[in-house]
Amino acid sequence: MNCNKDSVNHELNLYFDNSATSWPKPEAVYRAAELQMRQMCGNPGRSGHTRMLEADRLIYRTREALAALFKVDDPSRIIFALNATDALNIALKGFLKTGDHVIFTALEHNSVLRPLGTMRRNGLITTTMLPCSLEGYPDLEFLENAYQPQTSLLVINHASNVIGTVAPLRKMIESAHKKGVKVLVDAAQTAGTIDIDIADLDIDLLAFTGHKSLLGPTGTGGLYVKVGIDLKPLREGGTGSHSEIDLHPESMPERLEAGTLNSAGLAGLLEGINFIRETGLDQIREHETALRRSLREQLMEMRQITVYGPEEAAECAGSLSFTIRDTDCGEIGYILENNFGILCRTGLHCAPLAHQAFGTFPGGTIRLSPGFFTKAGDIQFLINAIREIVALTEKG
Ligand code: ALA
Repeated sequence: MNCNKDSVNHELNLYFDNSATSWPKPEAVYRAAELQMRQMCGNPGRSGHTRMLEADRLIYRTREALAALFKVDDPSRIIFALNATDALNIALKGFLKTGDHVIFTALEHNSVLRPLGTMRRNGLITTTMLPCSLEGYPDLEFLENAYQPQTSLLVINHASNVIGTVAPLRKMIESAHKKGVKVLVDAAQTAGTIDIDIADLDIDLLAFTGHKSLLGPTGTGGLYVKVGIDLKPLREGGTGSHSEIDLHPESMPERLEAGTLNSAGLAGLLEGINFIRETGLDQIREHETALRRSLREQLMEMRQITVYGPEEAAECAGSLSFTIRDTDCGEIGYILENNFGILCRTGLHCAPLAHQAFGTFPGGTIRLSPGFFTKAGDIQFLINAIREIVALTEKG
């Protein structure tokens, strides 16, 4: 395909990769992270001087804001991690014991598949994959028959990072709890865009990242841990508390947080959450759903294109995937950027089993993920670009 690089003004990139990380961030996020580094010179939880207390309070306010967002009574049950992958590792490696059996969905990201794969290969656990439909819905009948006496955990990807399908969380959690099985929810693609009421859904463990729909900086994320679940710490070390003993403290959140926290990142994250609160989660969801609906409808009008995932945008989070006949997805991504300044993600999206389920393995798909700052006009520009690319592929 002919690609004219000179036609693009790279200053005017259109960002359709919010499922990888959101961009732009609200102005207050950038400012708060900078201010924290410039002015709050204390190490939270250490020392004892006034500047440290300011930094410590800011971390606590971020914990409180997350607890309020997820409807968690006790903020100390939310621990900070580097990102969702880190939080999932803390959950899986801290919870699972030798001999356990784990059920996970075919939509899981490598952040779940790889830790489970290593534990399985080392003979520590056994696993069962819960298949899903072409639209990404987990097979609930299969689930009912998948439990074993040793099943201790069901891992659910709240929304596919490939096609956006939102899992029927309530039904799946009720099913697991009836069998005495705990549930770990990967909310990497939903926290900050879909309302998650941890108390009402009775979630046991929930991993989230700060840099996607929560609109915070990279290097932020965390894990909710229900009262009564005691995770073995993945990391041990300094906490600023109980320094006299040579064992890591039992009390939360220190139990699962060792070492200096990412204060600047968490200051930014607080502003991301404040932005969501002020804007309203409903409004954010409504805007993103309308964009997804329009995008899908217009893609579906091109007979050369296959769109994956549910028809109804209200059943999806941000990601939407498509292919153009048998054209190489990487090549389409390259043309989108180089001819039109449009940024997206192509390939397997760290979710190989999901692509196997959708029949898009190993070539993958072209993934478009608009965000709250995407405008209707951006969708139109994108669709026009895709129309041109489709015409190019026809010419060969
Ligand atoms: N998990 C992220 C994505 O889906 C990075 O792109």
